This record gives sequence, C-alpha cells and structure tokens, in this order.
Amino acid sequence: MTPFQYKQDTLYCEDTPLTEITQAVGTPVYVYSQAELLRRAAAYQTDNGLACYAVKANGNPALLRRLGEAGMGADVTSGGELFLARRAGIPPEKIIYSGVGKLRPEIERALAVGIRALHVESAMELETIAEVALQQQTIAPIGVRVNPNIAVETHPYISTGQREHKFGVPPDTAVAILQFAQQHPWLRPVSLAAHIGSQITDLSPFVESAHFLVKMAGELAGNGVHLQYLDVGGGLGIDYGDGDWRMEAGDSTPQSPVSPLQSPDIAEWVTAVSQPILQAGYELVMEPGRSIVGPTGTLLTKVVYTKPQGDREFLIVDAGMNDLLRPTLYKAHHPIWPVEQVTGTLEAPVTYNVVGPICETGDFLAKVRPLPLQEPGNLLAVMQAGAYGFAMASNYNGRPRPAEVLVDGNRYLVIRQRQTYEHLLDGTM
Ligand code: LLP
Repeated sequence: MTPFQYKQDTLYCEDTPLTEITQAVGTPVYVYSQAELLRRAAAYQTDNGLACYAVKANGNPALLRRLGEAGMGADVTSGGELFLARRAGIPPEKIIYSGVGKLRPEIERALAVGIRALHVESAMELETIAEVALQQQTIAPIGVRVNPNIAVETHPYISTGQREHKFGVPPDTAVAILQFAQQHPWLRPVSLAAHIGSQITDLSPFVESAHFLVKMAGELAGNGVHLQYLDVGGGLGIDYGDGDWRMEAGDSTPQSPVSPLQSPDIAEWVTAVSQPILQAGYELVMEPGRSIVGPTGTLLTKVVYTKPQGDREFLIVDAGMNDLLRPTLYKAHHPIWPVEQVTGTLEAPVTYNVVGPICETGDFLAKVRPLPLQEPGNLLAVMQAGAYGFAMASNYNGRPRPAEVLVDGNRYLVIRQRQTYEHLLDGTM
C-alpha cells in the first residue's frame, strides 16, 4: 500500500497530482503523505507500549507535531533534536535521549525539562549525568543502552548491536551501571534499551533482542534493580523496491538478482517484540524512525540534460547527493518512478545512470537503472525517501536545501521553504 499512485498517467500523492506541487514549488522537493504518516504512527500504538519516534529520520517540525498529536513520543540524539521535539509539543515524559556523545549542556537541558530517561552509553557519561543531577538537585531517570551482540544483515554503516561497535555497553557494564544508579541518591534506574541496527528486514534478531532484554531485566530484578520499561530500539526495514543496499553494486553492472526483500509490516513487528516484554510485566518502548517516515516521502527532481558518454547513458537531474545522500553513502537503492508516464512505456527502454550536478563521481541517485526514455523537463520521483533524506541534506556545492511539502488529500502545505542563496550567508561575516 502506498499513497503514491498513478491516475491517468500522472503520479499522485493521495489526491494531489505531483505536477501541481512542482509547478508551484519547483524542484527538488520532498513530498510527504500525511495519511500514510498517520497510518504508520497508528500501527505503532499498542497497550502498555510507547513508540518514541526517532527524530533523526526526519525532524521536520510539521511532521513531528503531527506524530506527537498522534500519541508518539520522541527518541532524540542531541540537544537540537530535544529542542525540536519540545517545540513540536511532545511532552517530556515521552522523550528519551540516546547517543554516545551527550554533551554536558545537553544533559543539563534534558534533566531540566524532565524527560522520561537518558539512555546511558558509557560509564563516563554516567558520571557526568550524576554530577549534573546533583548540581540541579534532580533525580535523573536513566536507562542503559546495552549492546546485545546480535549480528544483523544490513549495511555495515547502520548495524549497531555488535561488540565491536561504538554503541551501548556490554551486558556486564550495563548491570554495573544500573546497580550503581540504584545506590546513587541522584540517579534512578528505569530501563534497559537495545538498538541493533537499521533497515533490518528480518524479525528474528529483534525477537532475540527482546528476549535478551527480558532475561537481563529478570537477573537485575533478582539483584534488587527493578526496571520500569524495556526498549527494543528501532530498525524495522522498509521495502526499497527491487532490493536494498546490496543492489547498487558497480557502476556498470546490472543490479544483482537478489529477490525483493519483504519487510515485516509494523503490526507484525510490534506483536513480535512486545510479546516477551509485556508478558514479563514491563512497559515497552520502541524507537522507530525509517518505518514511520520512509515510505511516506518522495523526492521530486527534474531532468536537466541527457548525456551519452562512454558506454553509459547519464541522466542529469536537478537533485544531487546534497539533497539525498543515501545512494552515495550506502549505495542505497531507491525506486525511481516517472511522474508523468506515457501509457505503455513502463517497460523501460533505456538504462540510465541518474546523477546530480555535484562535483563528485559519487554523486548519483541510481545506477544502471531502466527507465522510460527521458528528456529535459521530465519529472522523476525518487521513492521511499522520507527517512534520512532531507535529514542528511546539506548545502554542499553552494546548493540551497530543497523545499518540503505535506499532502493532505487534495491539499498541500509547504512545511519548509526552499532555501534561498541568502541562506548560504547565514551566520557568516
Ligand atoms: N534508535 C537509535 C538509538 C538509533 O540510532 C536509530 C537510528 C533509531 C532508533 C531509528 O532507527 P530506524 O527505525 O530509523 O531504523 N542514515 C541511515 C540510517 C541511520 C540510522 C541511525 N540510527 C540510512 O539512511 O539508512
């Protein structure tokens, strides 16, 4: 199910033709479906469970506000994300803070606003939290991010739950931290958390992780440390079409014949991870990012030139790696759909390397990608781009950041203006 559908050869988001948006707002532009966003948020609602949206996936204030209104909390990873979550009206008791490098002023702010818990990622960080708590004369609720040493099949840059990764602490350290907190007058142990990675399309490592948390929590309870909630993190994958990061291999190699990966749907995931945790009597916390916003968004871009070169056919478009970094950084595969299709041309006559205007060979949106014959002015929709799309955009090559638009039925709202050249001077002398 997707909110992006063709009606009479034009791609729509809900009931709005994408061409109506590009005519008014230009390209490149990220377009999100409100209905899909809310449908996904609702799928994470469960009794005795709180889904804390991972703000890093897409921190647009309008999206955060809607997710907050739909009952979601926030998982933040910086003072900036805490600021965005609070501004969006997400109540502090629904905010958790994970991250390996929390700065003292960030910890001060988090304790001052009274968030649900700081998820500690090192013994040294715990010391800083204890100092700040004492200074503020506030009891700091803490969780520990434990590293369950579970291997997952995803891109190595976004696998996080193994011993050699920088995230979390090993189980024995987690126990020591929570026991220390139990004894400490200004610390209160409330949780154990694990986040094993991102874009994981298999349920079993998540279930393994949930059982791991329950087992550890049981042992801690035996030692007098009674936790309130267990947090299974985020990481549920989405369907990137013909495959995922494994696909965009070489420059001229056709995509590998890996069969499409079917991610479990949200409800299935929630049921699987919640069962062991709720049965053991703990509250459940989840930290989904990609699976909330990824499929709700597309990046619209316009063809500028076509350029046959060597044995390649380059399609030069007006979006680049500064707008959508995932293909460059992870060789990520995003499906690309023509916004206006001529009936019958879907069976792709031309194989393109879709590239942006940035001065880097790594600046591409797709390689060896079959598409209907393109010409300048055509619009393309880079699909599944709602998560880690705008969030990782930059001004590289002096490019203003793109606009963002939220569609609601047959109406749309510009939820972030396109930057102008003046923005390139922000804060400079
Ligand atoms: N919780 C923690 C502690 C995390 O580090 C992350 C993501 C999440 C939750 C949300 O994970 P999700 O449900 O979105 O998989 N830039 C990469 C993804 C980086 C993920 C970082 N951490 C990408 O574009 O694929």
